[in-house]
Amino acid sequence: MRYLILSDIHANREALSAVLTRVRRKRWDRAVVLGDVVGYGANPNEAIEAIRGLKPLVAIRGNHDKVCSGIEDGEMFNRVALQAALWTRRRLTPGNLRWLQSLPEGPLVVDGAFAISHGTPIYEDAYIFGEIEALNVFRQTSFDLCFFGHSHFPVVFGLSPDAIQTVLTTPPTFSFRLEQGVRYLVNPGSIGQPRDGNPLASFAMFDSATRTVTVYRVPYAIERAQRKILDAGLPRPLADRLALGR
Ligand SMILES: [Fe+2]
Repeated sequence: MRYLILSDIHANREALSAVLTRVRRKRWDRAVVLGDVVGYGANPNEAIEAIRGLKPLVAIRGNHDKVCSGIEDGEMFNRVALQAALWTRRRLTPGNLRWLQSLPEGPLVVDGAFAISHGTPIYEDAYIFGEIEALNVFRQTSFDLCFFGHSHFPVVFGLSPDAIQTVLTTPPTFSFRLEQGVRYLVNPGSIGQPRDGNPLASFAMFDSATRTVTVYRVPYAIERAQRKILDAGLPRPLADRLALGR
């Protein structure tokens, strides 16, 4: 099976369209979404509808999906994130609001092949930034392979019997084969708001037959996404950071 792994779209229609155009000619069997379809960007309904159009699809919720759909009040959000979430909540169509509210909490196991979580498979809102957090997750779970999002930073952590290893992906395309006897935590990066210093949209494909993960970086109309954010009256830092990838 070939899985299309998408995360942290954040209502960025331009970035999501570029990614979906890129994969149009690739064969994939299932789309997998790791949460945060909305929040920050100016096109929440369009992002949700594009994701809902991917079939077959398995998706879990992210922290922004919860606050934007009113499941949580966002008391842990900073001012900019909360402002964007409340703006998003006012604009969602009833059908898209219901879809967002119905997204399950991670972790989920997909086809018995791997797990998915938004933050960590222990707590959906917690971050995995480095090896200490990754090691904690490895110790408290038994998954051999888990895809996660939330940090907006494409990275692979591998735990072998004698060491933990961090693999930083290199643009524009980074492919690696999962080794037997090593457990993995893999972040495909963020489509709509990358934070690894590279502004290009990031996503991954996983081929379960060859056990190969490939992370792709895709250019998109950043200035257009920025202009929409400003025209919508959303906070300026949300537009500025798209060009920086931070
Ligand atoms: Fe996110």
